[in-house]
Amino acid sequence: MRALIKVGGSLLDDPASRTDIANQIAAVAASGVHVTVVHGGGKQMTRFLEERGVKSTFVRGLRVTTDETVDAVLKVLAGSVNTQLVAAICAAGSRAAGLTGIDSGVAIAEQLDPELGWVGRVVSSDPRLLETLTGAGYVPVVACVAGGRNGEVFNVNGDSMAVAVASGWKVDRCVFLTDVPGVLDADKQRIPVLTVAGCGELIAAGVATGGMQAKLNAATDAVLGGVAEVRIVRGSDPNIVRRVFDNQDDGTRVIAGSLK
Ligand SMILES: Nc1ncnc2c1ncn2[C@@H]1O[C@H](COP(=O)(O)OP(=O)(O)OP(=O)(O)O)[C@@H](O)[C@H]1O
Ligand SMILES: [Mg+2]
Repeated sequence: MRALIKVGGSLLDDPASRTDIANQIAAVAASGVHVTVVHGGGKQMTRFLEERGVKSTFVRGLRVTTDETVDAVLKVLAGSVNTQLVAAICAAGSRAAGLTGIDSGVAIAEQLDPELGWVGRVVSSDPRLLETLTGAGYVPVVACVAGGRNGEVFNVNGDSMAVAVASGWKVDRCVFLTDVPGVLDADKQRIPVLTVAGCGELIAAGVATGGMQAKLNAATDAVLGGVAEVRIVRGSDPNIVRRVFDNQDDGTRVIAGSLK
């Protein structure tokens, strides 16, 4: 089985939370699942930029990315956040290897929208490096940075990156670990199952905003692109990764088809 696990940045900020997630990822990999990890780091990026007096601006949940921001993306996402997660997964007993989408065409992007600057839309994902690594028992840990055809560096939303890699590598499972118990409705109740149409309605109604809007757009792309489902769960819930692999009812399942 091939599984893509996307870890939200807020789960990686605190060392105890990072260790817990790393232990769970290592356990899944040790059970024989070929696992690739994609991680975000929105919170860490905002903090790093704030410390330098740079305010973050978002459009439709995506960070407007200037030359200065893209440099910070390399330092923070591809640098400290990635390396700390790799260290934690190695300490948990797996052979984790840190990379970005730039390595061997794991994610090739084009500019999404001039208004957003260096934000990329992934246009292709070559699965061969991931196949080689996972086939040899390694756990690739991919920071959400993509390469352009002419050597550019693009900032890619973590969820979009995860979905592009999941589609290219043809995963059996795609799990998003985040900081909320799933997608919440207007009354803050968890929605167990969402169709593509349901995702669109939540966004149009202004119920799914910011990072969740980006997440649902990515999940929609995934299921329309052939991934059977995207599961969105809270990464701090006990044993959540195991529970997802055991098909327990946690979080939100985003599926393509209609609800019966
Ligand atoms: N309807 C909703 N249900 C749940 N969360 C929502 C909703 N609308 C907006 N959100 C926000 O979306 C956030 C999750 O997205 P966010 O981008 O912050 O996290 P992430 O994708 O897990 O991390 P990263 O961006 O670092 O990879 C929640 O913390 C919440 O504030
Ligand atoms: Mg996000």
